[in-house]
Amino acid sequence: MLITGASRGLGRAFADLYAAAGFRVIACLRQGAGETLDVSDAGSIAALGARLEGQPIDIVINNAAIRGDTGGLASLEAEDFLEVMRINALAPLLLARALWPNLVAGRRKVLVNISSRAGSLAEGTIDDEDGDYAYRCSKAALNMATVKLAQDFQRDGIAVISLHPGWVRTDMGGAEASVDVAESAGGLKALIDAVTMAETGSFRAYDGRTVAW
Ligand SMILES: NC(=O)c1ccc[n+]([C@@H]2O[C@H](COP(=O)([O-])OP(=O)(O)OC[C@H]3O[C@@H](n4cnc5c(N)ncnc54)[C@H](OP(=O)(O)O)[C@@H]3O)[C@@H](O)[C@H]2O)c1
Repeated sequence: MLITGASRGLGRAFADLYAAAGFRVIACLRQGAGETLDVSDAGSIAALGARLEGQPIDIVINNAAIRGDTGGLASLEAEDFLEVMRINALAPLLLARALWPNLVAGRRKVLVNISSRAGSLAEGTIDDEDGDYAYRCSKAALNMATVKLAQDFQRDGIAVISLHPGWVRTDMGGAEASVDVAESAGGLKALIDAVTMAETGSFRAYDGRTVAW
């Protein structure tokens, strides 16, 4: 299996869980021991695809993301917005394209986009008043990428899902967050383990709940 953003937080927890479950883990990081990948750089994504050519991959998890400015409309800056969109929405699409043949050759054939309820049009603002324009828009765009990729990958039997980790105690979630990293990663892994083509194009939370788009 392959995961992006494996240096810390949820990505690292996923890498450890899958390694413990006996998977060969391709842990992608910007720097350090692992497969080098900067998801903000289309060339870096293409180079990863070229290095992995011919290798079957069972599961790909698009996990790397940034939050960007959280201040709201008044502090929204064009460059910050575009950087968040590039990393959170465009990069998962480019990675899906680069690793499509690897997934076709794999046995499990699952592509996971780690999204967020913050990007849900129906639920994202119910009990959450943070500014986060760029982050919310990026995760909403990522959700459409999930639905569109599910349509494109259907014929290859590759299931594509969006997952919401909950509000998790990581650098991004902060110390006040309500869910422990291990609980979130464990819940998400159980969903990934169980996913079939019947669930392709769906949006689920770490506790199994279906999130409205
Ligand atoms: N924590 C939450 O409450 C929460 C809630 C909903 C959704 N999520 C989602 O869950 C996923 C994981 O979040 P997290 O809480 O674990 O975040 P985190 O602790 O901030 O970790 C983010 C990871 O993304 C990597 N990353 C950022 N920019 C990158 C780039 N340009 N290229 C490669 N890697 C890059 C980081 O690598 P470096 O170490 O190199 O910076 C790090 O490994 C994200 O998709 C996030 O949106 C989190």
